[in-house]
Amino acid sequence: MLNPSLLQSLKRHHWRPTALVQILHDVQDDQGWLSPEALQTVAGALHLPLARVQATASFYSFFYTRPVGRYRILFSDNITDRMLGAPALMDRLCKALWLERGHVSEDGLVTVDTTSCTGLCDQGPALLVNGRPMGRLSHERIDAMVELIRQQIPLDQWPSEWFEVSNPVHRRDWLLQDPMPAGNAVKAALERGAKAMLDELKASGLRGRGGAGFSTGAKWQACQEAPGSVRHVVCNADEGEPGTFKDRVLLSEHFDALIDGMQIAAIVIGARHGLIYLRAEYRHLLPRLEQCLAERRAHGLLGAKAFDGQLDFDVQIHLGAGAYICGEESALIESLEGKPGKPRIRPPFPVTQGYLGEPTLVNNVETFVAVARMALTGAAAMRERGTAQSSGTKLLSISGDVQHPGVYEVPFGISLNEVLALCGGESAQAVTTAGAAGNCLPRDQFHRRLGFEDVATGGSIMVFGPERDLFDLALNVTQFFAHESCGFCTPCRVGTAVNLRLMNKLAKDHGSPHDLHELDRMHALMHGASHCGLGNTASMVLNDLRHHFPHVFERRLHSNQYEPAFDLDAALSQARQMTHRDDAGAHLGDNRSEHLGEAFVTTDSTRKDLSS
Ligand SMILES: Cc1cc2nc3c(=O)[nH]c(=O)nc-3n(C[C@H](O)[C@H](O)[C@H](O)COP(=O)(O)O)c2cc1C
Ligand code: SF4
Repeated sequence: MLNPSLLQSLKRHHWRPTALVQILHDVQDDQGWLSPEALQTVAGALHLPLARVQATASFYSFFYTRPVGRYRILFSDNITDRMLGAPALMDRLCKALWLERGHVSEDGLVTVDTTSCTGLCDQGPALLVNGRPMGRLSHERIDAMVELIRQQIPLDQWPSEWFEVSNPVHRRDWLLQDPMPAGNAVKAALERGAKAMLDELKASGLRGRGGAGFSTGAKWQACQEAPGSVRHVVCNADEGEPGTFKDRVLLSEHFDALIDGMQIAAIVIGARHGLIYLRAEYRHLLPRLEQCLAERRAHGLLGAKAFDGQLDFDVQIHLGAGAYICGEESALIESLEGKPGKPRIRPPFPVTQGYLGEPTLVNNVETFVAVARMALTGAAAMRERGTAQSSGTKLLSISGDVQHPGVYEVPFGISLNEVLALCGGESAQAVTTAGAAGNCLPRDQFHRRLGFEDVATGGSIMVFGPERDLFDLALNVTQFFAHESCGFCTPCRVGTAVNLRLMNKLAKDHGSPHDLHELDRMHALMHGASHCGLGNTASMVLNDLRHHFPHVFERRLHSNQYEPAFDLDAALSQARQMTHRDDAGAHLGDNRSEHLGEAFVTTDSTRKDLSS
């Protein structure tokens, strides 16, 4: 006999196994965690093998397969939160509540842990408590929280201003300067017609704003031409890149423009079904977004007979469950289908075989909003901004050591110096230009320009002032990727784990020159040999730091091995002499004992690290 809450969830999701992630959310909301019995019941109800349900439940970090506290507190662990004092605040909370990070308090009341990045870097240090965001934390706030938790006060009775999220936009240009009333862009597209709209899109030169910068017009055309009668439009609102929050601002303040953009895509490719993949960290936005969709349906701006019967297209929101890799479009589709978010082998690409094996268009939130604006202004107005290969403007999420963190809309082609002048970060010693997965540039490169010709960016700009120890950044990104690697392919699974071991050793000042060499070799191994973009970019910040700021690592070497002018070649040849080929994976523990063959060579000293 199914419990009434599960029954309701199954009915709402039409008993579809593809809705497994959503159903597990419902079960967890009802029962507090996903017990073995609950997983068994869900498997039986959906006629899925138990192993499949267990695999999905255990893949996502926001699903709990062990009991957790009634108050579940997750501190944002991004480097900018750390710079603002998040670790000390978490320690203070744990001490006051007499509990250890990652453990449930003895009375079952509280769990305190970290999560990768909450998307609140403009107002950190931040945390999520039972999924609700709280920024601008202070010692006073932590002490007040302790009291509320001790007295078991429900979250609804906590001061409401603690949960307020602001959306600062410090510079507006072509995309954001005028409001876009709901449906106007769709009407403009309907008047133009599908073919002319696609031509306009191609003429605009719009490239995807999610990071890779693929031509949006070419992608839409490929999806339109793909064989098949059913097509899907998917909005990637997973925004998991550390340091980025511009999609949060668009979802909060320009959601109608996003839906307009998805509807224009539906007109062009001929789709009736749309999905928004909303990251779990943005669950707090869900009620407002659902309400907005309902209002559009009520006003004839969404649904079966929208726009006086000219458009039959509706949108559902799918909630993610805490996995950075699900931002990668094929992993995202796996997740939409109720599976663990592991990237697919491509080809086939989503435009021909995506969601449920049908042609699927996946675009970033900002890309859809730009499409809506372009439908209103025409391609020429967009082309007035930007550069030859990077037309229009870009939203930047700027955080770190700047006077005014927040979102800035800038024309492509702007230099980093100009960006830093806008946000009050002129004294920076380094800037990451695409979160944890891009470049980290030093001052002498701040003349370089944002755009696909030079410095590509998805928009996450993190700024590091002259006093910062950049080793902290290196350690943070290494921990991030070791945690977020999905484990599917060997170079990334092993490379991220080895990097973490090496960085932990350096963090304890126990590093040797050989360890630095190993970091460089891991970069060479992962960059290019990994299955997806995560592994291919996982060591980029680390590698840039090694290259531009070698002293940051050298001063961490064990004192009796300190060599300020570190000679990599000498160390390399020395390392080669002591090199053994080895089944390195065996040292990484149970599920990682995979033979790496020629690609992975390890030395005595690394093996000792790995087995320690
Ligand atoms: C590890 C990884 C994470 C990603 N995360 C995101 C994301 O959060 N949002 C996003 O739009 N694209 C993300 N992407 C890029 C997507 O795979 C895809 O290229 C993008 O959604 C396409 O939309 P666009 O053409 O509009 O940029 C990610 C890629 C990788 C490899
Ligand atoms: S590169 Fe990393 S995240 Fe991507 S498939 Fe391989 S293990 Fe998974």
